[in-house]
Amino acid sequence: MNVFRRTVSLALAVTASCALLTPAHAQTSGAIQRGHEHFLKDGCYLCHGTVGQGGVGPAIAVDLLPYQAFAYYVRAPSGAMPPFSEKILSDADLSDIHAYLESLPKPPAADSIKLLPRAGE
Ligand code: HEC
Repeated sequence: MNVFRRTVSLALAVTASCALLTPAHAQTSGAIQRGHEHFLKDGCYLCHGTVGQGGVGPAIAVDLLPYQAFAYYVRAPSGAMPPFSEKILSDADLSDIHAYLESLPKPPAADSIKLLPRAGE
């Protein structure tokens, strides 16, 4: 195997293992279950509601932020939300919380609900 081929194989192997570690691939039922437990245990539900529907804090499940932005906000919020450092909530647990929120069913589009009045009707 020449050096180029060896480098390409190594790059592919590294890419494949990184892909396995990204939160998008962590969406096993175990991750979702653990995320649900942390969402309750660590108090997210107190402000965001038990299914992230909102309360004192905004709804966070429907237009869920991509993981990087989500994690960035939780670590360093800019408003009234208290910060959750890694000492309080590990990256793994935060990733599980994201998987839990992502697993929740999305509400139907307003247009698809026949009983809702439509603009102009
Ligand atoms: C004491 C109330 C409170 C708790 C507890 C809390 N939040 Fe928040 N959160 C807020 C408020 C209020 C905002 C709106 C922005 C602000 O004022 O910081 C917010 C905003 C956010 C946002 C960004 C807004 C968006 O649309 O996505 C995310 C993500 C978030 N919270 C996730 C979490 C997670 C995850 C937890 C648990 C680890 C949590 N929050 C715990 C009050 C809270």
